[in-house]
Amino acid sequence: MLKLNLVVALFLFFILTCSFTSLVQSLCNRGCDLALGSYYVEQGVDIELISQYMNTNTNNILKYNSNIFIYQDNTLPSFVRINVPFSCDCMNNELLGHVFTYQIMSQDTYPMIAQKWYANLTTEDWIRRFNSYYPSSLPDGGNLNVTVNCSCGDTSISKDYGLFITYPLHPGETLDSVSSAVNLSSELIRSYNPDVNFSQGSGLIYIPGRDENGGYPPLKTSSDGRIIKVIVIIGVLAVVVVVMFLAGCLYCRVYRTKNAETNPAIVLQNTHVQLIPARGVIVDKTVEFPYEELWLATHAFSLANKIGQGGFGAVYYAELRGEKAAIKKMNMQASKQFLAELKVLNHVHHLNLVRLIGYCVEHSLFLVFEYVENGNLSQHLHGLGREPLSWSIRLQVALDSARGLEYIHEHTVPIYVHCDIKSENILIDKNFHGKVADFGITRLTRVVGSKSRLVGTFGYMPPEYIQYGDVSPKVDVYAFGVVLYELISAKQAIIRADNSDDEPKGLVALFDEVLSQPDGNDGLVKMIDPRMGDNYPLDSVHKMAQLAKACTHEDPRLRPSMRHVVVALMTLSSST
Ligand SMILES: Nc1ncnc2c1ncn2[C@@H]1O[C@H](COP(=O)(O)OP(=O)(O)O)[C@@H](O)[C@H]1O
Ligand SMILES: *[C@@H]1O[C@H](CO)[C@@H](O)[C@H](O)[C@H]1NC(C)=O
Ligand SMILES: *[C@@H]1O[C@H](CO)[C@@H](O)[C@H](O)[C@H]1NC(C)=O
Ligand SMILES: *[C@@H]1O[C@H](CO)[C@@H](O)[C@H](O)[C@H]1NC(C)=O
Ligand SMILES: *[C@@H]1O[C@H](CO)[C@@H](O)[C@H](O)[C@H]1NC(C)=O
Ligand SMILES: *[C@@H]1O[C@H](CO)[C@@H](O)[C@H](O)[C@H]1NC(C)=O
Repeated sequence: MLKLNLVVALFLFFILTCSFTSLVQSLCNRGCDLALGSYYVEQGVDIELISQYMNTNTNNILKYNSNIFIYQDNTLPSFVRINVPFSCDCMNNELLGHVFTYQIMSQDTYPMIAQKWYANLTTEDWIRRFNSYYPSSLPDGGNLNVTVNCSCGDTSISKDYGLFITYPLHPGETLDSVSSAVNLSSELIRSYNPDVNFSQGSGLIYIPGRDENGGYPPLKTSSDGRIIKVIVIIGVLAVVVVVMFLAGCLYCRVYRTKNAETNPAIVLQNTHVQLIPARGVIVDKTVEFPYEELWLATHAFSLANKIGQGGFGAVYYAELRGEKAAIKKMNMQASKQFLAELKVLNHVHHLNLVRLIGYCVEHSLFLVFEYVENGNLSQHLHGLGREPLSWSIRLQVALDSARGLEYIHEHTVPIYVHCDIKSENILIDKNFHGKVADFGITRLTRVVGSKSRLVGTFGYMPPEYIQYGDVSPKVDVYAFGVVLYELISAKQAIIRADNSDDEPKGLVALFDEVLSQPDGNDGLVKMIDPRMGDNYPLDSVHKMAQLAKACTHEDPRLRPSMRHVVVALMTLSSST
């Protein structure tokens, strides 16, 4: 009991010292239990390495990243952000931060540790301030103090947010891209970061974060008045004394009786680890195919089974479990592509959208889709050796793909923008119905959190997307308009000039010219796919051309929505 009293006395002394120093006004007077660091994953980082650098464990990280996909070998997809929890301490009453311990490896330099291992959560200068090492000779195996700044919130801005992410800006990010990536208003983010230049692509910002349950925890309001503070401290002290006493008694008893048994804390910890499943993995296990099965079904990915080549990998035909399938094999570099595609296709089911059957992540990345028999629209319009499509089939394919697009624009949660609509991505089934394929880059911009990454195909991209990277459903409406022009003319979206000195011309510009001519339909008739002969109702073609013109309007606000396009095409096909 004598020993225990000594401990209590020491503890009280410690608490009192702390409280009094905190009463002396300083830059910070307390930290908070939790802050998050946004770790930008470049290539090939695995989650265990991140947990090691950030002095935590994988399960603890996964709790805050329920939407992140992790490969079986623990590597993360490239270009995603991982939120890593840590405690935000009031250091020396001066600043809010956390000191991580990093074990120096040979070849390490301060800039490398800051930029690579800590993903710019800190800087060379900031590390230098907390370590006495000579920067040019870091001891191999030595411990380094790596300080990362953090925030606990600000009562003068909002009491609704009490958890903050330390977020290093990445080149290319802007205030808008960050705010849309986290779905918070840019005013709010700006108010927490009043002095930050968001366009410089570096530096730390603080943004409100979500806790384990996906909600924003409110700010724990600290009592402001000093008197209240003193009362609180006295109260806390009283409680501490009682608790210490009880704990002391309990400890003695437990220690005496359970001395020989295993440490209960350790047992608890172990079950804890097993109880929390890897919540970060969102992929439904039921659709995972073993690699061998795909390998056998495609005859070892033979050339004979290859049916297409896209920008991100080859596509193979296979018969899997009695169903015809198209397997898209992608190289590792396409992992963010893969992730986006999986996420979207998992949610989206519609007759006019190519269905995702399953996936495989062994050796490479594979997506397994339903097989669509009749190739893509581009092959039918521009390819050799195919029967020309009749006007009614062209109308049908237009209406089908418009319906698929309308579905992802208006009826899914969240809504999606395809971003790469083109005739190659409209597949035709055995009944000559159209299906929209290749959601690979859908919403990728949002997943990556950057507005500036341009994905898509020239000739199909609207001006606001090319110039400012603005993404909205109207991006797809524009591209769909180009597809309508293709259906009419069977010309490519970009027409190479005969004379090599001339600039290549876009289909949109070509039609704009023709449709603005005063001579009525003469110009239009010259544009119509000659392979249709005279077998088309000119009135219907004219109306489709007008619809395409509206879809490709320069101002996105003046383009119709896909719902309007569907209605227009339905009217057109019922009257044709
Ligand atoms: N589900 C499928 N059924 C039949 N053929 C397909 C299927 N998916 C893709 N293809 C063929 O493979 C080609 C390339 O696939 P795509 O998904 O567009 O690749 P990427 O996204 O890399 O551009 C398509 O144009 C089409 O001809
Ligand atoms: C860190 O910043 C540097 C310089 O701005 C940049 O090149 C690098 O990609 C950043 N690293 C990460 C992981 O964001
Ligand atoms: C952390 O905060 C301090 C004080 O505000 C600042 O001087 C320092 O540059 C910050 N460190 C980083 C890495 O931004
Ligand atoms: C790291 O910080 C601790 C505590 O402030 C200090 O004692 C130690 O010397 C620091 N390490 C180095 C390498 O400077
Ligand atoms: C974004 O936030 C708004 C309200 O703040 C909410 O209605 C909407 O569903 C959110 N969108 C997504 C994609 O989470
Ligand atoms: C912000 O940073 C960008 C890029 O470094 C620079 O061009 C711009 O002048 C800066 N703006 C301000 C207000 O400092």
